[in-house]
Order: sequence, then structure tokens, then C-alpha cells
Amino acid sequence: MKQEIEHLRNVIRQHEYRYYVENAPIISDQEFDALMHQLIKLEAENPDCFDPNSPTQRVGSDLAQSGFEQVEHRYPMLSLGNTYSEGEIRDWYNRVCKDLGVVNDSQFIEVVCELKFDGTSISLWYENGELVRAVTRGDGVRGDDVTRNVRTIKNIPLKLTQNNISQLNVEFRGEILLPWKEFERLNAERERNEEPLFANPRNAASGTLKLQNSRTVAKRNLIAQIYNVQIIDNSSFLTPHSSLLETHSSLLQWAKQLGLPVSDTTRVCKSIDEIMEFIDYWDVERKNLPVATDGIVLKVNSLNQQKNLGFTAKSPRWAIAYKFQAERALTRLNSVSYQVGRTGAITPVANLEPVQLSGTVVKRASLHNADIIASLDLHIGDMVYVEKGGEIIPKITEVDNSQRQADAERVIFIDKCPECGTTLVRIEGEAAHYCPNETGCPPQQKGRIEHFVSRKAMNIDGLGSETIAMLYDRGLIHDVADLYTLTIGKLARMERLGEKSAQNIVDAVKKSTEVPFERVLFALGIRYVGETVAKKLAAAFGSIQALSVAKREELIAVDEIGERIADSLIEYFDDMRNMQLIERLTSFGVKMEGKVARAELSNKLEGLTIVISGTFEHHSRDEYKAIIEAHGGKNGSGVTSKTSLLLAGANMGPAKLEKAEKLGVKIISETEFLEIVNV
Ligand code: IVH
Repeated sequence: MKQEIEHLRNVIRQHEYRYYVENAPIISDQEFDALMHQLIKLEAENPDCFDPNSPTQRVGSDLAQSGFEQVEHRYPMLSLGNTYSEGEIRDWYNRVCKDLGVVNDSQFIEVVCELKFDGTSISLWYENGELVRAVTRGDGVRGDDVTRNVRTIKNIPLKLTQNNISQLNVEFRGEILLPWKEFERLNAERERNEEPLFANPRNAASGTLKLQNSRTVAKRNLIAQIYNVQIIDNSSFLTPHSSLLETHSSLLQWAKQLGLPVSDTTRVCKSIDEIMEFIDYWDVERKNLPVATDGIVLKVNSLNQQKNLGFTAKSPRWAIAYKFQAERALTRLNSVSYQVGRTGAITPVANLEPVQLSGTVVKRASLHNADIIASLDLHIGDMVYVEKGGEIIPKITEVDNSQRQADAERVIFIDKCPECGTTLVRIEGEAAHYCPNETGCPPQQKGRIEHFVSRKAMNIDGLGSETIAMLYDRGLIHDVADLYTLTIGKLARMERLGEKSAQNIVDAVKKSTEVPFERVLFALGIRYVGETVAKKLAAAFGSIQALSVAKREELIAVDEIGERIADSLIEYFDDMRNMQLIERLTSFGVKMEGKVARAELSNKLEGLTIVISGTFEHHSRDEYKAIIEAHGGKNGSGVTSKTSLLLAGANMGPAKLEKAEKLGVKIISETEFLEIVNV
């Protein structure tokens, strides 16, 4: 079995290489998923074949990590000097020539031009061809060991793709990036869940790398780009490959052959003109790249010359960064309008005289909140600079005060909701103003309904925002419970809605009564109760009834539930209107309890103490805990002589396994466990 599993792992690795490095897959995504599922299954059934570098480990683990171990870098992670003009690049090149004793024009020093990727730096240590450690830059001398999270990044090979590299000890350095598309998806999701947004992909990438839960990291779809190779200990390896050690570009090529993601955009330049050409080209073309870049890095290609040039205290003399100018445009502020979101948060928006910026016409800019308006001291009619920066919506970065009209009117943040006239409130410690009229303010109600029907919530198809707005404005629905009163007759009277669409909507609404409780809880749109929090609450309390009467301490006792969430829940259930809404939804058949946490399923596990370890395919660890308790068993935290069973998941720590074996504790797989409890 061990051999079969290892064979399957290698097959999957080859397909990963074809997909992520060569961009030329030879099987469909579906076929790939099937292979992966087969491997997950085999590994779950054979916990003794665990390997942290198995392709399955990219899904991460739900086991929260308590902090990160600090690791000293084997050689410091330095930064680069910055330049902003052609002149400064020429100066750098001339200095390089002088330091190397080369007379300008007599011989050109090869310079490698690379994109400067705008993410977070990482150092990847491989020993005997396997990834053993991934360390963040930290303070340059010591960084955090984030190996668990980095293993989930799909274009980083967990095993190198050549066989003759045993004994080779090598370190690759590069950048971890969150592609634009993923960044936008993540922020949209965070907005829906009322979580703070990331300002740019760089922050999102470094924030993600520091998450405690590697399964969440896996879902974010980070990628890596490698820009440096350092052979630490080459023993027998290098003799036949010594030419590798001559240039930076040959090392990069070698890294690519080993399966590491090395950008195809890199170019070896043989003249200053070629360097300028590269810069001019990418200054424009970078806008079409899937990831953020903030400049170009120039590196002397010869490793020997690099050595001769050496380092200053902070950066190498053989490399320099050229930073792209953040594009900005000057235009007039015509007015400020205020949008009311689903949660009642008020977003001020600047309406601008249309202006061309980075290939698009900008008409609006985000002003974020009252503090930002005040700090810019904005006046209507001001000439303002707008920049795209790392954000999707451009922002105003500066006001040209010299052009302000004497009688210009200062922008004062509104104090009443522009939609319903209610006096706005500002929660202490938060930057945003809110309209507190949750149930009577139209955009809030429409937004709540939109959230309720969304895919990850009740998944009711056929109700887009326009249809919801139309139904709301015509008085057919006022809240989410009204959706369950819609009939084909009522819907078909709407223009633009044929009988077929009406039928589909009614069917989809009806089907939503099958949606499990945890998603219903998320769909209710309780402030700070996102998807994950809803899952945790559902597993811990099992029903809306139990949750609605839970005390603050009981709520906080649940993993990942803090005071902010607990207070929001208490406030929600204290409001009679919400309780009435829940009652109506219940009467329409919407699930207000989940089967997992009901404590009366059976007494099959009575008297047994079961320890859960590793990651699972069918249920989360919290769910397994609830299942054990629901069948009369006890969930133990560590393996001791009192442990009756060890429920072993896919990437269980070897120490636990060893201890269980030593104490003679029976180890069972996920499948065996599910057979016992029959869920
Ligand atoms: S070389 C010794 N090459 O830019 C210097 N850095 O201050 C090694 N970066 O945070 C850096 N793309 O992570 C190099 N092609 C590239 C890069 C790059 C992005 C980042 C790097 C560091 C910063 C340099």
C-alpha cells in the first residue's frame, strides 16, 4: 500500500508541474481532482503512510497553530536600494563598472532585469529534494516559520522534480503573492461578512501567510515567484553542474527545471538601452499581469562579479530596484455622495470630473470615512490628486490647496441617513458611521435579502439584486421571510418576469428549506457572523433556540468567538423583531437546528474517551467533537492511558501516533469511525 500511495503522489506531482510550471496540463481539472480524491482516501485509510510533503497536504489543516516559531536565516534577507529615474540607473551601472574596474563601453556587464513582485518575501529551504522549511523575512535576521501555510501554495513544489539531488541543500527566495483576481474575490467576501478589507494584495498576502489555520490559507490561492537561488551545501552535486554557478540567470533556469515557479518575464540585458526598453515595456504591460508589481529589479548576472561587488550594510551593491511611479491624475471634486450598505455602514464617495488614469476613466473615488475627509480638509470644487495605488477604487491622496476658491464649501460628513433620514451613529473605536434603522432602511433591507439568497447562504437562484429591488419597491417583500410567501401568481404579474422564471424562483425558495442550519445562521446576516463563525456556532449550540438563550460567557467559550461577536449575537437576539423573523422563517420550514450537535443521537460511544487528531474529509474537527458527544462519548484532548480510541485523520502528528501505539490505544480511521456511528 505504501508503494501504491507513493506512486500516486508522484503522478500527481508530475501533473502539478505540468499545470503550474509549464502551463501545459495534459489532463482535465476533473481528472486531476479524481486522482487527488483517491489519494486523500488512501491516506485517510492508512494514517501510518502520512507524509507532510504529500500533495494532499496543500489543503491545510483546521488545527490552529499557536504562534510561529522564530527561525534564524542562514544568511540575512536584505532589501534593495531604490531608484526612480533613468539617470539613477545609469549612475548605478557606472558605479558597478567602476567598482569592478571595467572601463565603460569596453565590455558590457550583463544585467538581469526582473519584475519586482509586490507581495511578501519568503525563503524556502529544501533538503534532499524536499521542502523542509519556509521562513518569512521578519527583521531580515530572523523570520517566522510558516511552513505549514506555505505547503498549501500550489505552485511551490513540496518535492523537487529531479532525482539526482539527494544531499543537495538549497534555498530559494522569492515572493508570495495574492493574484488580483483572488484579492478582489477575498475582499468581496470580506465585505459580505463585514470583515475589514485588505488595502492591497501585498497586505492580503502577508496577512494570509500569518494565519493560524492553514486550511483558510489553502482557500486563498496564494502563488509564489522565485527570484533567487542559494546553494547551501553542494557536496557531490555540483561537480558536473559547475557552470550553473557562473550566473544568476542559469541558477534561475535550473530552479525552473526543478519545478520552482520562475517568471518567464526575466531578461538578460547586454546594454543600458536594453534595460530601458525592458523598463518602458513593463511600465505599461504590468497592468495586464495577474499579480501586482511595483518596479523592476536589476541584478549583475555574473556571480563572480556579484561577489566582488559585495554588500553595503543594508543591501547588495550588485542589485538595485527601479520603482514604478504610482500614476496619479489631477481633477475637480464636484460633489460627495453617501452610500448605505447592507449593514447600514455609510460610505462617502467623491464624484469627480472624469479623468484618464492607468488606462481607465475615473469618475469616482473612495473617501472611506469621516476621518479621511477631515484629514484631507476637502472642499467642494477642490482640485484633487487621484491615485490607483494597490486598491481597486482610486483614492484621493492630496488636495491642491493653491487652486481652492475663496468661497468653497467645506465637506462635512452627513448626520442623517440619506435613504431613510435616521440619525447616524458611530460605534466607538470604529471609523464608519452606521444607519441604525436596520429593518426600515430600504438599502439595508434589500442588501439583507440579497445576502440571504446568495450562494453560500440560502443559495436561492433567480433572485438577482434587480429582481429583489423590484419586489421590494412594489411591496411584495419587506424582509427575508416574505420570500416564502411568494407565489407564481404574484411573481408573474411583475413585468420582465415570465411564468417560467416565476416558477423557478418559487421552486428555489422552497428548496432552500433543505439548507443546513449553519448556512441559515450565516444567511441571517447577524453582524460579524460570517461563514466560519456560523459553522462554529452551529456545531457548538446545535439550534437557534439554544444559541438565542446562550450567555455571553458561553458564547465566548466557543473557539474563535470573541467579545465583539458575542455582543453582536446578544444584541441581535434581544431585538424582538429578529425573534419574530426567526419564528416566521421556522414556520415556513427553514432549518433552525442542525443534526450534528443534538445530544440524543445514540449511546454507542458511552464510556469512551476519544481523541481526535489530524484533518478529515467528511466533517470538521468541531463536528466530530459534536458527533462524539451526541453519541454519548467524551472528547479527550491528549492521548493518555485513559484514551479509548484515537480518531486519526490525514496529517496527524507523528508524536501522537507514536504515543497511542506505545500505550496500546486503538487507532481508527475516519471511515471506520463513521461506520461505527453510522452518520
Ligand atoms: S532580489 C538581496 N528580486 O523586493 C536582495 N527582490 O527590497 C534580494 N522583490 O522584499 C531581493 N521581486 O522580496 C529581488 N525579482 C525580485 C523581487 C524582489 C520582489 C522584493 C523582495 C524584497 C524587496 C526588495
